[in-house]
Amino acid sequence: MKDVKSYVEENKDRFIQELIDLLKIPSISADPAYKKDVLNTADAVKKSLEEAGCDKVEICETPGYPIVYGEKIIDKNLPTVLVYGHYDVQPPDPINLWESPPFEPVIKKTKIHPEGAIFARGACDDKGQMYMHVKALEYMTKNDALPCNVKFMIEGEEEVGSESLGWFISKNKEKLSNDVILISDTGMIAKDVPSITTGLRGLSYMEVEVTGPNRDLHSGLYGGAVANPINVLAKMIASLQDENNHITISGFYDKVEELSKEERDKMAEAPFDLEEYKEKLDIDDVYGEKGYSTLERASIRPTLDVNGIWGGYTGEGAKTVLPGKAFAKISMRLVPDQDWKEISELFKKHFESIAPKGVRVKVNAHHGGQAYVTPIDTMEYQAANDAYKEAFGKDPIPQRSGGSIPIVALFEKELQSKTILMGFGLDTDAIHSPNEHFGVWNYLKGIQTIPLFFQHFTKLSKK
Ligand code: BES
Ligand code: MN
Ligand code: MN
Repeated sequence: MKDVKSYVEENKDRFIQELIDLLKIPSISADPAYKKDVLNTADAVKKSLEEAGCDKVEICETPGYPIVYGEKIIDKNLPTVLVYGHYDVQPPDPINLWESPPFEPVIKKTKIHPEGAIFARGACDDKGQMYMHVKALEYMTKNDALPCNVKFMIEGEEEVGSESLGWFISKNKEKLSNDVILISDTGMIAKDVPSITTGLRGLSYMEVEVTGPNRDLHSGLYGGAVANPINVLAKMIASLQDENNHITISGFYDKVEELSKEERDKMAEAPFDLEEYKEKLDIDDVYGEKGYSTLERASIRPTLDVNGIWGGYTGEGAKTVLPGKAFAKISMRLVPDQDWKEISELFKKHFESIAPKGVRVKVNAHHGGQAYVTPIDTMEYQAANDAYKEAFGKDPIPQRSGGSIPIVALFEKELQSKTILMGFGLDTDAIHSPNEHFGVWNYLKGIQTIPLFFQHFTKLSKK
């Protein structure tokens, strides 16, 4: 039986080329203009799973984009690992900030990735990380090294809220039954600091509309006498956080899980360099909720951010206008045990209640999802720990992330199994930003670590 390290070494050029081919298809789920490409990507993923050794692969239709399901069942008495990932990507804009076109992947060296990194939309989130599992499966099937059963569920709507996935899971519980869910769609602390993600934040995504007069007005004739919806919206948004950057929505913090001093002290031990953090973002200081560290603000605390705000005249030159309407998209990142539907409701009530006379306010909820946190004293975590220890030569650090994968909490509720988040991306890989990339080293290291998880998990399951 060939060991995984030498198999990856021998096949790495092909592994990289195959990923590059997948990255060329612009599977942007948010934009209907790319529907064909999203569907073609599902076909490409299906083909790759067949070639990697799955016995059965299907394109499962949903009310939205299809889910690619694959499986290799070697023995019903052995445990089953369910791999989840997504083949859709974020829109690439602003496109002019890309140094090379987002769907024409190139390999370039960077300071952090001297071995080279693949630059393309989806390189890290999540095509590159999802494809590590396909290649890990190829290694295991071609080298008689698959120790247990494996199922794949790769979706095409993660970046737009995974709406069809909830529907799919509730209809296919038997088909998806498993002993552990394995996901690579998060990050690690650094190349020499392996880590396992033990928490994700929830999300509540809102859109607001403020309406003033029935049309855009001359700002000289009417300005000062009629409410300007943009001025009002800016004031309302500003009032959502107080001088300590606490959120002012009443009831917002009622269910927030407070961490013990021990837990916070433990978190503070994770390697983090504030000066480097600021330098990389070109900011002169950090900013956030009083009483919490930067790491805490970005993981265990709930937040509120405006994602976009618009209205009035934004074209060339100047136009004197008092706009009739103003809009904003506002998201809140949530922590255990906040309920996203309840928070969306609290936001709506609060926002409507602070609207001054002279304007009308509409509040709509987009998608959302629950936060997730997992204990580390489980057999599943131990198996992941052992895999990292073998691959990296040291124990991984458990780390709660600020990002969201809403489906993870739902998985646990519906399928009653634990999720292991084995991410290999770095925070600097620019996911969702221009010039997204994924280190070649990280990609190959992921392919090497995954089969070790399968081995350790199967071994520990037998005990
Ligand atoms: N893979 C990310 C989430 C992520 C990235 C978690 C890095 C932890 C570390 C995922 O594709 C994503 O972007 N999720 C969205 C939420 C979704 C509902 C659009 C997010 O976090 O904004
Ligand atoms: Mn992702
Ligand atoms: Mn994403």
